[in-house]
Amino acid sequence: MYNMSRRPRRNRKSSAIRAMVQETNVSINDFIYPLFLIEGSDKKEEISSMPGIYRYSLDLMLREIKECVDFGIKGFCVFPSLGDDKKDKYATEGHNRNSLYIESLVKIKSQFPDIVLMTDIAMDPYSIDGHDGILENGEILNDETLEILGKMALAQAEAGVDILGPSDMMDGRVGYIRSVLDQAGYTQVSIMSYTAKYASAFYGPFREALDSAPKFGDKKTYQMNPANASEALIEADLDVKEGADMIMVKPALSYLDIIKSLKDNYDVPVVAYNVSGEYAMIKAAAEKGWLDGEKVMMESLLSIKRAGASIIITYFAKDAAKLLLEKQ
Ligand code: PBG
Repeated sequence: MYNMSRRPRRNRKSSAIRAMVQETNVSINDFIYPLFLIEGSDKKEEISSMPGIYRYSLDLMLREIKECVDFGIKGFCVFPSLGDDKKDKYATEGHNRNSLYIESLVKIKSQFPDIVLMTDIAMDPYSIDGHDGILENGEILNDETLEILGKMALAQAEAGVDILGPSDMMDGRVGYIRSVLDQAGYTQVSIMSYTAKYASAFYGPFREALDSAPKFGDKKTYQMNPANASEALIEADLDVKEGADMIMVKPALSYLDIIKSLKDNYDVPVVAYNVSGEYAMIKAAAEKGWLDGEKVMMESLLSIKRAGASIIITYFAKDAAKLLLEKQ
């Protein structure tokens, strides 16, 4: 018989051994669940390209959060979906204290003080141009945009948000937002920077959910070129120096190398945003019976953890939490 001293299959010979040597685990603690807010009451509209994901009016969103909290989900990221009548060139509604969004954040946090409530800072949901920064004569104005982002950050911090997520990709925004927060006494409000946010076609369903697609051009002058990896290190370096508590890679599945590279090079937690298009692909294939949706979901989440992410922002949070609970 052929004599092999190393037989890696020995560590795979039973389910008990496989469980013992498993290097990576997905846990409910890893998830942040994105939620979409709309006006009104008793409203729940399914997003057609994201089966199982809805836009909720506040009353139903509170019920949804309760259900998720009962499953053990601890983190939520709320995005507002606004009608065109609330949008303008300078995203004014984004820092209106009496807006549906800011008032809803206050209510969510007061009803669920123990959750980690996260928000997104960028102009696009409130911008008539659908861009993350001020658009003037076909150009995105970086430094002028920072002021608006700072105002949004302050309004959200005042509302009781735990983690602010600047997703705009303007230069210098983390440092600017940190200084605005600190000067106002919000030293305990965290910043999770969208550090390596790529100009990706995987955001399509999200833009449908918020009706926030750019009306002019694309986002390539601020979001990163999908071809670039070293550039993610430049962004990470700046964000960490400017005070980011956590750094994010987005999308996740086509960018696992970037997650790994940030994990290897920085000590702050790395976050992955498993974006709308990544959710839509799996759901669509599962609906057609072409893939086992649950297995592919868990394998995807596991791969994101294996690459080095500590936290996953994912539309699968609730489905995965249910599955993980059943397996306990
Ligand atoms: C807003 C923002 C986007 C996403 C999160 N925040 C869209 C974009 O930049 O166009 C995408 C999330 C997803 O696709 O799930 N700046």
